Amino acid sequence: MKLLLISVNHKRLSSYFLLLFVILHSVWSAIVAQEKVREMVNQARILMNATLSDDELSLFGIEEDNKATELAQPLSLQITVLHVTDALSREMNLPKWQAMLRALGGDREILKRFEQMRPHFASLEKKLSQGQDGGIDEQLNQIAALNTSFTTWTRIWPQLQTLIHTVGNLHDWFDRYQRNAAVVNERTLRDFAETVHSTDGLTISQALVSIHKTVCPFSMDEDYMESENNSSDICKGGVLETLQTALIQANDNFICSLPKSTHQLAYDLYALLTLTDAKGYAMMQFSWMILRLYGRGNNANETEQARIDFEKRMTEKAAAAQKVLSELSTWMWKCDTPTSNQIENETYIQFNELLQGYVVNEVDLNQDNTCKDSCSAYTNTQEKGCFGNQFCAHSRRCSSGRIYNCGFVEADSNICINNEPGRRYDWIQYKSGRVFGQKSECNAPHNKNYKADSWWRWVFWHCSYCMCLCDQPGLHSDRYVSLQSALASSSSNRLVTGVRFVKHNRILHIQIQEGEALPRGLVNESTVQWLPTTPINILKSQEESVEDGLGYATLRYEERAIDLDDLVTPKGHVITGLRFRKLGGHLNLEAQASPIDFTTGTIDNERAIWVSNDNTPASEIKPRTKLSLLSPDVSTRSRIPSVPDSTSDQFIEFQVSSLEKDVSQNTVPFIEATPVFSQPPTWLTGIGIYHKGQPGYGGYVAFRIATLNFSYYMMLPSKEFNYTTEEGIVN
Ligand SMILES: *[C@@H]1O[C@H](CO)[C@@H](O)[C@H](O)[C@H]1NC(C)=O
Ligand SMILES: *[C@@H]1O[C@H](CO)[C@@H](O)[C@H](O)[C@H]1NC(C)=O
Ligand SMILES: *[C@@H]1O[C@H](CO)[C@@H](O)[C@H](O)[C@H]1NC(C)=O
Ligand SMILES: *[C@@H]1O[C@H](CO)[C@@H](O)[C@H](O)[C@H]1NC(C)=O
Ligand SMILES: *[C@@H]1O[C@H](CO)[C@@H](O)[C@H](O)[C@H]1NC(C)=O
Ligand SMILES: *[C@@H]1O[C@H](CO)[C@@H](O)[C@H](O)[C@H]1NC(C)=O
Ligand SMILES: *[C@@H]1O[C@H](CO)[C@@H](O)[C@H](O)[C@H]1NC(C)=O
Ligand SMILES: *[C@@H]1O[C@H](CO)[C@@H](O)[C@H](O)[C@H]1NC(C)=O
Ligand SMILES: *[C@@H]1O[C@H](CO)[C@@H](O)[C@H](O)[C@H]1NC(C)=O
Repeated sequence: MKLLLISVNHKRLSSYFLLLFVILHSVWSAIVAQEKVREMVNQARILMNATLSDDELSLFGIEEDNKATELAQPLSLQITVLHVTDALSREMNLPKWQAMLRALGGDREILKRFEQMRPHFASLEKKLSQGQDGGIDEQLNQIAALNTSFTTWTRIWPQLQTLIHTVGNLHDWFDRYQRNAAVVNERTLRDFAETVHSTDGLTISQALVSIHKTVCPFSMDEDYMESENNSSDICKGGVLETLQTALIQANDNFICSLPKSTHQLAYDLYALLTLTDAKGYAMMQFSWMILRLYGRGNNANETEQARIDFEKRMTEKAAAAQKVLSELSTWMWKCDTPTSNQIENETYIQFNELLQGYVVNEVDLNQDNTCKDSCSAYTNTQEKGCFGNQFCAHSRRCSSGRIYNCGFVEADSNICINNEPGRRYDWIQYKSGRVFGQKSECNAPHNKNYKADSWWRWVFWHCSYCMCLCDQPGLHSDRYVSLQSALASSSSNRLVTGVRFVKHNRILHIQIQEGEALPRGLVNESTVQWLPTTPINILKSQEESVEDGLGYATLRYEERAIDLDDLVTPKGHVITGLRFRKLGGHLNLEAQASPIDFTTGTIDNERAIWVSNDNTPASEIKPRTKLSLLSPDVSTRSRIPSVPDSTSDQFIEFQVSSLEKDVSQNTVPFIEATPVFSQPPTWLTGIGIYHKGQPGYGGYVAFRIATLNFSYYMMLPSKEFNYTTEEGIVN
């Protein structure tokens, strides 16, 4: 991969240049319009029958586009700046050019050339200021304000920010001149150029060096250069590492509140620093060109040195960023919604009454209405009747469901019945005073207080009230999961940018947010949208069935596990779809990964593959393990924010909430319904389902996402990147 012209063989180049120059010279006319030169070079090229390679031609700044390079956006911006300034400065070195440029308004021509770079600057600038909370500046301020980062970051960031603003403010003027190139006069431009290279106060050049020194403290350190130290040491303790430390020390509550992964945050800081450097360098070169044009010195040595320094800063920053980025997590997850803002079906979803604590007398559990056994004898049975219209006649029964895992607590109890959907009982108080659930007055309209005392039947049989689990499908019980694929639109180059769980028609669906892929990890923000889910219905005839239906899975006592996995795409792929499948009775996530071209952002859906984790608890090597919840209370009752507590290759079973805390009336964990996406949107290379919670609570099953690993695209091949210059080619 040929990155830059600098590496092209010098001798050969200069001879080509001379040859070309001779050809140009012979047909030289008074017209120096850019188009004319271009045309002539093209003619020369035809004459020489393409003996010049594209690389060599690019020396003249007339190649169509930048070479397709797999480099991150900040690097590609810096290289563009190098291309444009190099080409321009070479043209200006042609003696006739200079005089004629001046006569024909060379300053405007130079300004126009710099203006060609505006979209590159603007695109990166826009990316950095996007987001609901003011972009990267604001996020970095927040880290400085964190208690845990009472560290170097808090001290360094404000200073760095001042330097960045100094360069940025001057560049705003430069940008204004570019936009108004037609009306800018010589005086304005000369004043600007003199300000940039002013010797009073802080020059732009010094500002850039100071910024770079915060990133790479040992850069340009004479003692250091002589030692055996290599480039990874040059940036030791630099600001990127400081940010990394601050992010590692930051607590979970902060990390999950970020609108992006910590990897993206560090990448954005790197982009900000790089953008600033490119702005400064462009202004410096522009100003020298203008001063030279106006006869204020040649500045050739400074120009040359500035170029070498810029390249050096570019490679050193890239190396520093590459190191930090390869160590920071690309995963992001969202915090819980605060307890007081939790709304069912909006911020969380429940499987209602999948399994539920159920009080039933032994006499109703067997065909003969006897009470010969103990409660624990009934592990898997059905309700057979309602003997004597006792307690069973006063609350919702489990007649069409199955009854599991009965046990005996105490003989006599007081039960607060709840007749609203979702619960059967609010609480149970036993004669000993023991209470299950949260004791209340029990006087709401849907409440009824009932005294359920066990009794003796024929003196020797004790008919006890048992505490069991009821698994009864029907209108009270939402327990369905869609198995339909959610796919980003393939026709318009879309990929998945976000994901959430939704419940539609009583069925849990995966809903995806899609957006149009742009080059180098970007997504067109104005195309981002949530796609509707594929509708499915539970047929009337299926409503009381525990069997899976067409296009959906039905949870039941035997099959109620969900696999917890983090799926990642192969390198060079992004997520373009998601779906659930059933694997060994578990719900198991699959992600569609499609190849994508980094430099163009083109997605190749034809070659999409499905990624999944086929591991099961029966696997021979490293079998999938169960994540157990101990005595879980209702998830939304937790006052302490949840933290992730699962890893890939685990599974969790939907189960009843704690008997003591909630009379086992709810199904936990809950499902998090708040969307997970990064801001600004970016390419996703991983999707995970994980569990987060706190001990003693049911917690949530939720999605997490992985953003693109930029460290792959930060590698400057060092052989081709070489601080030597093409000195001596011209003049
Ligand atoms: C230029 O070179 C190509 C082969 O690269 C050859 O086919 C063509 O005839 C040449 N044209 C001229 C004008 O010599
Ligand atoms: C920061 O930490 C100090 C003690 O280390 C504590 O007193 C203070 O309340 C904390 N502030 C915040 C906002 O957490
Ligand atoms: C690298 O540089 C540091 C600081 O100058 C020095 O302390 C250290 O010994 C050097 N390491 C090597 C391997 O030269
Ligand atoms: C740079 O130094 C580190 C340790 O200081 C060492 O592990 C690494 O191999 C060195 N890299 C090169 C290219 O010499
Ligand atoms: C520029 O550099 C050359 C050699 O590198 C040196 O001879 C010359 O004095 C320098 N000019 C200025 C103005 O520093
Ligand atoms: C949530 O949706 C289900 C049906 O999908 C409904 O039964 C339940 O009442 C809803 N919950 C709330 C709080 O609206
Ligand atoms: C982004 O999408 C909008 C709407 O489809 C389109 O008009 C615009 O050109 C796109 N931007 C880029 C950079 O492709
Ligand atoms: C990102 O890529 C680098 C290689 O460039 C690798 O070392 C690192 O582990 C990757 N990070 C993640 C989170 O995948
Ligand atoms: C850099 O380029 C020069 C001239 O082409 C060459 O002599 C030198 O070996 C190169 N250095 C590296 C580190 O590749």
